[in-house]
Parts: sequence; structure tokens; C-alpha cells
Amino acid sequence: MDVVVVESAQEVAREAASRVTDFVRRHPTASIGLATGGTQLGLYRLLTDAYRRGQVSFADNRFFMLDEYAGILPTSTNSFQHVVRSEFLDHVDAAPHSLHVLDGTASDLHAEAQRFEQILRDSGGVDLQLLGIGTNGHVGFNEPGSFPNSRTRPVRLHDDTIASNAPYFSSPADVPRAAISQGLETIMEARSILLMATGTTKAKAIAEMIDGQITAECPASILQGHSGATAIVDSAAASLLASRV
Ligand code: F6R
Repeated sequence: MDVVVVESAQEVAREAASRVTDFVRRHPTASIGLATGGTQLGLYRLLTDAYRRGQVSFADNRFFMLDEYAGILPTSTNSFQHVVRSEFLDHVDAAPHSLHVLDGTASDLHAEAQRFEQILRDSGGVDLQLLGIGTNGHVGFNEPGSFPNSRTRPVRLHDDTIASNAPYFSSPADVPRAAISQGLETIMEARSILLMATGTTKAKAIAEMIDGQITAECPASILQGHSGATAIVDSAAASLLASRV
């Protein structure tokens, strides 16, 4: 895994936006896996700006959601598909049906996960997967203890994740306890991966992901085995890396 350390959260977003823009220019029909979370928002803003300046087009890309809360309506501002539409896809020239969602309101989440995996397979897989990282080392909603051979499936959210996501809800009790997430093996099949992390709250997870053993306790550590993975982190998130302390 390549690691790029920059000074600030703004620079993380800038570096990521320049890489994604370059990638899409070189691969205009690429399939892109979209993550949510606060860390992605700066990137989505800069990609929107690049589109408005005529520097990039997303007209021929396909998009795949990384994960989704269970039981949250797609129209809710907490729905991940709502976030990627309202923060990014609605502002660029993405084709109307180019986003492949995970339906967290499906009555059978296992069947929904299999439907999504089938579409992913039929379309040839993800070319570029965007990722954040949880304070507990999760990627997507693959919480500690997730198996390396996990595929898209319904998952239970870890207490750390519920606490981290509580500010986005009116009360912590409203945070869903379950979700549907691409699995670790699904994520590892993406041809390239761009993970962003900012702030001291991510420093421990970043150190474990990069310097630690590959272990289910830090699901993101599996990315050490991906030759096309790059982590872009700010100096706060990098502060516990062996090369920095
Ligand atoms: C969201 C997701 C999560 C977040 C992670 C970081 O689609 O899959 O893994 O990327 O929890 O979230 P932020 O950026 O809010 O710290």
C-alpha cells in the first residue's frame, strides 16, 4: 500500500480529487465505488468543482455504493445513497441510472446483498474504490472481526461506529444498529483503492492499518495486501505512524 502524508484535511481532499480526476480522464468508463462519511465530503466538493470547470466528465462512469444503513429510507438525509447524490452525483453529468445502490430497506437484506454482488460481477467489478476508515479500523461497515473472505452482506454496527455516527442523527438512539456493506473480499477485488483519513481520532487506526499485523481486529489492515491501494492521510492521522514518531 502506498501512503501519502499531507499537512491538512483540505490537502487530503485536494490530493484525492486530483488523483480521481486523473483516473476518470484516463478511464472515462470506469466503475467507481463511492463511500460516505465526513472525510469524503471535501473530495466530492472538489470533484464537483472540477466538473463545473470542464476538467472532467462522469457521463460514462458507473457508480457502486460501498455500504448503506439498514432501515433508512433512500429519501432520508441519513441515507448513504442520498448523501452521494446530494453531495456529488446530482451536481455533475453522471447518467441518471449510473448509481448502483444497496437498498437498506429491502425486506431480505441477504437477497439484496446477493443482487448487488451479481450486478458487480456482471459489470466487471470496481475499477476505483473510495474508502474512509473508522476509528476502530473498519472499512465500509466491515467491523473488527470481519472475515477476509467476506462478501456484501448485512452487518451489525460496532458501538464505536454508532457513537461516531451519532452526530448525524437527532439522537444516538436513532443511529441504525445494522447496515449492509460490501465485504472485505469484495473491496479487495477493486482494481485500485483510495483511502482517505484525517484528524487525530484516526491516528491509531491508521498506525494499525499501515504498521500493524494484518488482523481481523483492524479490518483495514487487509489493504496491506493490495498492490493498487493508496492511503492519503493528513499529519494528524499520520501522527502515530512508525515513520513519524
Ligand atoms: C461510509 C463508510 C465508513 C466511513 C468511515 C469514516 O460509507 O463506509 O467506513 O468511511 O466510518 O467516516 P468519517 O469519514 O465520517 O470519519
